[in-house]
Amino acid sequence: MDAFTPQPRPCWIAGRPEPGEDELIVTHPHDDTEVATVAVPGPDQVERAIAAAHAAFPAFRAAPAHVRAAALDHVWRALQERAEEIAETITAENGKPLKWAEVEVTRAVSTFRFAAEEARRFTGELQRLDTDAGGEGRVAVVRPRPRGPVLAIAPFNFPLNLVAHKVAPALAVGAPVIVKPASATPLSSLILGEILAETDLPAGAFSVLPVRGSAMSSLVEDPRLPVISFTGSTSVGWGLMDSAPRKHVVMELGGNSAAIVCPDWTDLDRAAARIATFGNYQGGQSCIAVQRVIVHRAVADDFVPKLVGAVRALRTGDPHDPEVEVGPLIDEKEARRVEEWVNEAVSAGATLLTGGARKGSTVDPTVLADVPADAKVVRDEVFGPVLVVSVVDSVDEAFALANDSEYGLQAGVFTHDVQLAFRAAAELRVGGVVIGDVPSYRADQMPYGGVKGSGTGREGVRSAMTDFCEDQVMVLTGLDL
Ligand code: SIN
Repeated sequence: MDAFTPQPRPCWIAGRPEPGEDELIVTHPHDDTEVATVAVPGPDQVERAIAAAHAAFPAFRAAPAHVRAAALDHVWRALQERAEEIAETITAENGKPLKWAEVEVTRAVSTFRFAAEEARRFTGELQRLDTDAGGEGRVAVVRPRPRGPVLAIAPFNFPLNLVAHKVAPALAVGAPVIVKPASATPLSSLILGEILAETDLPAGAFSVLPVRGSAMSSLVEDPRLPVISFTGSTSVGWGLMDSAPRKHVVMELGGNSAAIVCPDWTDLDRAAARIATFGNYQGGQSCIAVQRVIVHRAVADDFVPKLVGAVRALRTGDPHDPEVEVGPLIDEKEARRVEEWVNEAVSAGATLLTGGARKGSTVDPTVLADVPADAKVVRDEVFGPVLVVSVVDSVDEAFALANDSEYGLQAGVFTHDVQLAFRAAAELRVGGVVIGDVPSYRADQMPYGGVKGSGTGREGVRSAMTDFCEDQVMVLTGLDL
């Protein structure tokens, strides 16, 4: 792990690298070895970062689109050039298998590239007002104006791309951004800091503050940061919203996503392979990992053994090994929690079809059936490699079961029937319905977010840009239209 020098990694205060007042040790989830130490900024540094973001805002929001776009273009090109090193870093700090880390870097490149493109065309609209007699000769020029500096609070599960989903749209609209990375995975954000520092962005346009969670309240409550973009657990998210009631808060929270296999779906091998992969990718630590598998009785006898076989075939182990598909969870405490939830379900009558064991921070890919509806592995977000299979007698029952959740992020529906697809979109209470695939499909340009306990607001580059802005109208009078 000595590639991760110099140590400690500096934090970024108003665009400049600085040592901190304290240090954070980053460890590798697979074997707990030390990966790097990171500078933790003190209260004075946090204050300087906030003050700089606040001071930079008026000029930055007025900066020409080409300036913002050029900075974003630099970022995606630099990410592309440094892709190998950054993927290694993601694997080292997060423990996801290298091939998934590579996918994450590729996605972050796209996220910044989309943001550069959107920065160039994000304009607003001209609205005619002569639809009523009182508006004759008038038009409204409707322009999205950034609300102000954005506080970006990022999770550990995608330490680069979920930071990108906050930083790129903020910079695209001319909003300074302060990143608070997850304490377990600050390294990718700090590399992003390095790359942003190579651009011509004004001082104050970005800071990266790897402060501990306990020091977050000074950022959350500061009125100079009127927008908070948070991705993380449901309890922390809603708590944060309560502590900042006057702020614009965008929240991407948890999920317990369902994949529904309908009776018309013929390629059961594919459905089984996709569900096995996306119930377990990154150790199931994605908010849109498949958790609940709802299968119609007409295909269940064929499908379930295929699913169990596909899950059993997944290799666990060292995430640097190219053959390994399922790495460790972020730490052993999380792995113990997942193990406990599985054991609780089994004690309550569930059938363990495969998996269930834990070694250190790695949990074996697990499939459960006959699980009581109130078990944690059904009701809560597992965030681990666990699939819960339910067999139903009708599509109505499948949709009702999928909706029987406090969450509503994405759902996957394996059907070829276009009418059923539209019905699924109309009836499933989720932010996204993926037809013919798992709920885990996400393209970085499309709107992404949940309903119910899964959050509020949307990411996806353009959606986040819109969310970080409020419309301003300028009415023009006395015009020949
Ligand atoms: C998440 O865990 O919410 C993000 C999933 C993704 O970006 O693929």
